Amino acid sequence: MNIILLGPPGSGKGTQARHLVETRNMVQLSTGDMLRDAKSSGSELGKKVAAVMARGDLVTDDIVIGLIGERLSQTTAGGFIFDGFPRTLAQADALDNLLKSQSHDLDAVIEMRVDDDALVSRITARSTCAKCGEVYNDITKPLPVDGKCVNCASDEFTRRADDNEDSLRQRLMEYYKKTSPIIGYYYAKGLLDQVDGLGAIYEVQWAISEVLDK
Ligand code: AP5
Ligand code: MG
Repeated sequence: MNIILLGPPGSGKGTQARHLVETRNMVQLSTGDMLRDAKSSGSELGKKVAAVMARGDLVTDDIVIGLIGERLSQTTAGGFIFDGFPRTLAQADALDNLLKSQSHDLDAVIEMRVDDDALVSRITARSTCAKCGEVYNDITKPLPVDGKCVNCASDEFTRRADDNEDSLRQRLMEYYKKTSPIIGYYYAKGLLDQVDGLGAIYEVQWAISEVLDK
């Protein structure tokens, strides 16, 4: 089963994708994570995208389509979760073609709906394990009291360069301007399901499971 998790910054795409990886043996393909990895490795690609990402703008379609194309030839029992991709109509078209060329189908597009006020408070409270990427939140999922990641026991946590109010405003603008049109595109294809992303993390997990099991 191959699915897209679609939603604005902070809607919980990464949190829910990690859960599906653990429970359904799926593979998470997060273009944001791939670009951040490129940045921390100091590669040419990483240098090219660092400032764009920090500002909250989208990187160019050809870069992210290339990154996804490289990964799709992997085999996976549980299927792919596209997290943060596609983000433009051109990316959505490219994904259709990539999936077709690998004889894969797209089974569901899940839009996670969260209002802007909640997004701001989620994003400004987020931290991430520097080693395994486990996502925390000062309010809803605080760092463990022993200071060690629940997943890998590392004691290093980071805050993202784009998790500030200015960049978040720009990320939201990019979402409404360039990404939201793909909601209509997938609706027209009969693939769209919407879940309320405002509930607790486990409630959103249930809502997504319901969509995947129907
Ligand atoms: P990307 O990394 O994809 O960031 P994003 O879309 O802005 O989304 P986030 O990762 O910030 O949020 P999320 O939805 O994953 O939420 P999370 O689970 O972490 O992209 C970053 C940048 O890379 C882009 O701006 C762009 O520059 C570039 N890029 C990436 N892909 C691209 C593409 N395809 N094309 C062009 N450019 C691209 O949760 C957030 C917080 O909320 C956490 O603290 C979490 O613990 C908490 N939380 C989660 N769920 C809940 C809940 N239900 N209740 C309470 N708290 C919750
Ligand atoms: Mg994410």
